[in-house]
Amino acid sequence: MYYNTMPLSSYSTPRAILLQPQKTWTGSNSNKYGSRLGHCTEVPRNVNMEGLQSEYLFPEISMREFEHIRKYPDARLIKLGVGDTTQPIPETITSAMAEHVLGLSTVKGYKGYGAEQGNMALRTAIAEKFYKDMGIKGDQIFVSDGAQCDISRLQMLLGSNVTIAVQDPSFPAYVDSSVIVGQAGELQKETGKYRNIIQVQDQSMKFLEPERLQLKFQSFSKFAGFTGVRLGWTVVPEELRYSNGYPVIKDFNRIVCTCFNGASNIAQAGGLACLSPNGYRALSSVINYYMENAKIIVDALQSLGLKAYGGKNAPYAWVHFPGSSSWDVFAEILEKTHILTIPGSGFGPGGEEYIRISAFGRRECILEASKRLQNFCN
Ligand SMILES: Cc1ncc(COP(=O)(O)O)c(C=O)c1O
Repeated sequence: MYYNTMPLSSYSTPRAILLQPQKTWTGSNSNKYGSRLGHCTEVPRNVNMEGLQSEYLFPEISMREFEHIRKYPDARLIKLGVGDTTQPIPETITSAMAEHVLGLSTVKGYKGYGAEQGNMALRTAIAEKFYKDMGIKGDQIFVSDGAQCDISRLQMLLGSNVTIAVQDPSFPAYVDSSVIVGQAGELQKETGKYRNIIQVQDQSMKFLEPERLQLKFQSFSKFAGFTGVRLGWTVVPEELRYSNGYPVIKDFNRIVCTCFNGASNIAQAGGLACLSPNGYRALSSVINYYMENAKIIVDALQSLGLKAYGGKNAPYAWVHFPGSSSWDVFAEILEKTHILTIPGSGFGPGGEEYIRISAFGRRECILEASKRLQNFCN
């Protein structure tokens, strides 16, 4: 049989699409993208990719960080930019993952592909924990590898023929993934906005918040320190329909089956442990720790008379520097205090004049950063 005679290497070798060098290639390595380009192929660049305004925000911040470290190798850099978590994951959760991992080395415990939508035990636990009052059941929960990946899958689901509204400022993946799938329309140079993306500020988003009928993207990243473990979920209410009456959940399921194939079973074992009474209790104290960090930063800045917001629903502080470019303030703070923050304008035009400070750092870093910021702003 074909199946039996095919060498294992044929199954395991990834198949790449080989991009052939252009026939007309002249051997010159330089063009407007720089001199270390390599071989041009006949494959045109996706015009949507051309529409992106800049590098994705977070790698850009990492680049600034590396440059700063190169310039000041001995400085004690405090990283409060990208909101990455720093506190260890409670052991009751990691031991559930470890147990699952060791089980994979046994005949009984080995598991291969799982359900694309996630383990039903975890889906049910998520529904019970967070959406019981809304009548959402486990079969309306789709477990994923994080909210960011689900945002892109949402764009694929919607296709290019839609107009989207995003909160301004908002997480940059919403706008960028919309540009990548071709929803955004032209970039308007005067405003820095895309024609088909409506960027709306706080109060006006309220119309988008009905209690029940919406897709919700959620993540274990911040709530459980799973930024590296990768686990999230999307809620797709079964009664949500397109304008032609077709159930959205059916298409979402199709996207998940075609383009994803299910979250890591190790991460899912951890996710289930997060929702156990012990796991959830342990996580609550980690969350309180970060929220106290945020209060320390906000209080320190407000005590100087600065307009500092946030730290109430999420551990981020937003600080207003009226009349200044947020990239300039970001650069000045980095240069003078060795603190890495994030320019608010990276999250949309509404973030201009602001910087965002993450409170996901360790307490000693937060206290030190508050002191340095107070000296800087004084
Ligand atoms: C609003 C928002 N959406 C999505 C994400 C990405 O989350 P994940 O790690 O689950 O991909 C983040 C991460 O900070 C976020 O703040």
